[in-house]
Amino acid sequence: MAVITFANTKGGAGKTTAALLLATELLHRNHRVCVLDADPQRWFSRWQEGAPLIPRLSVETYVSASTIQKIVHERRQEWDFVIIDLPGIQSPLLASAVGLSDHVIVPIQGSSMDAQGGAQVLDLLRYLDRKAGIRIPHSVVLSRVNPAITTRSMSAVKRLLAEQQINVLDTPISERAAYREMFDLNRPLRKLEGTATGSGEKAIRNAEAFASEILAMVAPGKTLDRSLMSRRNMACYETAA
Ligand SMILES: Nc1ncnc2c1ncn2[C@@H]1O[C@H](COP(=O)(O)OP(=O)(O)OP(=O)(O)O)[C@@H](O)[C@H]1O
Ligand SMILES: [Mg+2]
Repeated sequence: MAVITFANTKGGAGKTTAALLLATELLHRNHRVCVLDADPQRWFSRWQEGAPLIPRLSVETYVSASTIQKIVHERRQEWDFVIIDLPGIQSPLLASAVGLSDHVIVPIQGSSMDAQGGAQVLDLLRYLDRKAGIRIPHSVVLSRVNPAITTRSMSAVKRLLAEQQINVLDTPISERAAYREMFDLNRPLRKLEGTATGSGEKAIRNAEAFASEILAMVAPGKTLDRSLMSRRNMACYETAA
């Protein structure tokens, strides 16, 4: 149905956390999800290897620039969602992955607004648009945002990015202990102890809202057909190279 890529060439921006939150929320809604772990560090794969068996989830590991196109084309047909988790470095995988995507999500740390790695991804997307007329839908999600941050200061950040015609999700991903624990304990968010109440419950509501916003953007009818996707991917790769 849809290919969603998480990209930021800066390490630690929150890509894998956001990818895992989206994947597990989609699974919770009974979708079939295939995650392509394109990071040689294998954070997502390691999480899955330590987690209990999760039905309707497949994680492909060691995805590289030379294999990604074939894997995405095959998996698109079998799975409701393909989620690509990119490494926090600049690599040829970035152009290949964005060219295959229905939507690119760029997590940028809301607290520091350290947007340099995000800017590299956004620059590539702008370049593809200007140079080759290839428009890949994309959004910034502010990640690791202090839940106590005021709506007013969030609006200011959103305005700043909107001035550059960058869509920012209404739902930022909060800084939550539960989001760290998912990796420490190899559990999906909803299977962590104590998430039914208090800050755990807020973490679930946050993940839910994040997934709903993405789903609304990649709903059926809003995604590209496969033959167009294939031609676009080749053009992306050639233009970026
Ligand atoms: N919303 C959050 N709340 C709490 N901790 C977070 C949150 N997002 C990320 N972290 C923590 O920050 C660290 C980096 O996050 P993550 O691995 O998701 O980033 P990344 O962009 O995938 O990094 P890399 O580029 O190295 O793959 C991890 O220890 C993670 O647990
Ligand atoms: Mg990662």
